[in-house]
Amino acid sequence: MSEKEKERILVCVAWPYTVGPRHLGHIAGAGIQPDIFVRYQRMRGKETIMVSGSDTHGTPTTVKADAAGVHPAKLVNRVHTLFCENYQQMGFSYDLYTDTETPNHYQTTQTIFLKLMAQGYIYKDTADAPYCETDRRFLPDRYVEGTCPICGYKEARGDQCDNCGNLLDPIQLLDIRCKLCGNPPIFKPSVHYYLDLAKLQPMLEQWVIGEGHEQYWRTNVYNFTLGSLREGMHGRAITRDLDWGVPVPVADPEFDSKRIYVWFDAVIGYLSATIEWAALQGTPERWKDWWQPQPDAPVRAVYFIGKDNITFHTIIWPAILLGYGDLELPYDVPATQYLTASGQKMSASKGGVPLLPDVLERYDPDPIRYYLCAAAPDTRDSEWSWTEFFRRNNDELVATYGNLVNRVLNPTYKNFEGKVPEPLQEYIGDDDRQLLADTRAAFDTVGDLIDRVKLKEALREVMSMATKANVYLDKQEPWKTVKLDKAKAATAYYVAMQVLAALRIMTAPFLPFSAQKLHEMLGYNGEVSAENWEMRDLPPGQPLGQPAPLFKKYDEKTLPELIEAEEQRSLEPWVDPDGPIETQSDRPRIVIYNQQVRQRAELGDERTVTLG
Ligand code: MF3
Ligand code: ZN
Repeated sequence: MSEKEKERILVCVAWPYTVGPRHLGHIAGAGIQPDIFVRYQRMRGKETIMVSGSDTHGTPTTVKADAAGVHPAKLVNRVHTLFCENYQQMGFSYDLYTDTETPNHYQTTQTIFLKLMAQGYIYKDTADAPYCETDRRFLPDRYVEGTCPICGYKEARGDQCDNCGNLLDPIQLLDIRCKLCGNPPIFKPSVHYYLDLAKLQPMLEQWVIGEGHEQYWRTNVYNFTLGSLREGMHGRAITRDLDWGVPVPVADPEFDSKRIYVWFDAVIGYLSATIEWAALQGTPERWKDWWQPQPDAPVRAVYFIGKDNITFHTIIWPAILLGYGDLELPYDVPATQYLTASGQKMSASKGGVPLLPDVLERYDPDPIRYYLCAAAPDTRDSEWSWTEFFRRNNDELVATYGNLVNRVLNPTYKNFEGKVPEPLQEYIGDDDRQLLADTRAAFDTVGDLIDRVKLKEALREVMSMATKANVYLDKQEPWKTVKLDKAKAATAYYVAMQVLAALRIMTAPFLPFSAQKLHEMLGYNGEVSAENWEMRDLPPGQPLGQPAPLFKKYDEKTLPELIEAEEQRSLEPWVDPDGPIETQSDRPRIVIYNQQVRQRAELGDERTVTLG
């Protein structure tokens, strides 16, 4: 095996805040894309794991919980459960989807904190922090709002501007006000721990510039990262005046009322989730295969995120990893742009946005996956549109691909006793050979594109195979020859069926549900996801499954109704402020483990492993 084949793949997916249901913009990048990537890598026989979980801490969660009048644990519980259910419905094939409220995650975070401190990369300092005299509390991160000094955006937060993506300190915000009462805060000294990014800068530069990431990182990702380094890094506070989150592991009463900053613990989730996965597998040391690989089995760690998270994945997380030492750094961070609604970044709190649970109630997951991949905001923002969703489903999935499947499988099933027909060699001509050669070649083209995370282009190649097979059939007209020369029709149907057999594999990463159906209709057993990424001859005589349509046509007359429902939906129905307050210990905890939603209880205690 070559070096490249032995390589393991670690697929890391951004951890969503537990603040409310996902909308389609969220899953367009950090949802669909990593799942396509990971499914392909598994079919190539790569040892691969995909990990993520719910990002439960920090002010995103507490601000929402405060507003709803519930304990953060309760909000987390509701929303995390919803994520798990929706992700499973979407077919996201996580090896582990966990959350940041586990003992294992706390322990991993604290271990890293302490080692960074011991190595001199974390220091203590006192700085002025916004404090609200009306609410009598400090106002970390999302508890303040103001104008971004860099881009002028009016709703920038205390730690970051959502519009330009730059990290901020609250003191920089112009026209700063308290989110709770609207009054301007005063500034009061508060002691915190800081990550010494200035000290880590030379290592970061060596990693970003010295390792040639420019060659394969997306231009915007590389430029943003380089820009931040050029400006010069300075220490960032990694603790907060907050009572929800990972406790600061120091014996200092002053820190009893403080917690670790949500972004510091969230990125560590990639590592802690791998540790938890390995423990659940009963092989507690195996996380090292992905994070401390041996030279003869290298790792490619790919992080799927939205563009507002770039700085945390190309600066902060690598800085933590470099400071800790001996842990695998990101290989690529293919950040996506935004899927917009009415020209604006989608926001579940603003309404007029397609929410995942709603969309899943009406539509099948494959058409959603298809649309979001085909119209993905890879290099620029792209506008979500129900009309386009319907058009792509109706014209592309139903009329091109679905129709190909029908026009081959229905007549074959009927005319050839429900079996794969036997082709006649004499009838195999140039057209047949060409189509088969193109199909074979498509495995390499498509595979290579997926490997480079050019998923939209890859999907286009897959669909072009369906178009080619349709053109081939139009020319062969086997539905006519079947009455005159059955062997000729058998040959054409067989060749077209070979394309279907290839398509069931090539579509599997993108459209896993319909790929499985096609797999069974072609008479194969087991899971299509267990097949290898290669062209295999379809055995003549193989009994076929009963043909049935792969996709449904969507009625465009329902469009106005959909748009109206979206405008009017009540935005926060998942919190019941009158219900009992669920605490950490009494909530039923679930995870997605090996692609199934499971109760943690059923998996046994959450074992924890000490980071070596
Ligand atoms: N919770 C963050 C967001 O929704 C993403 C965190 S990604 C992580 O923007 F890896 F750092 F967790
Ligand atoms: Zn800004």
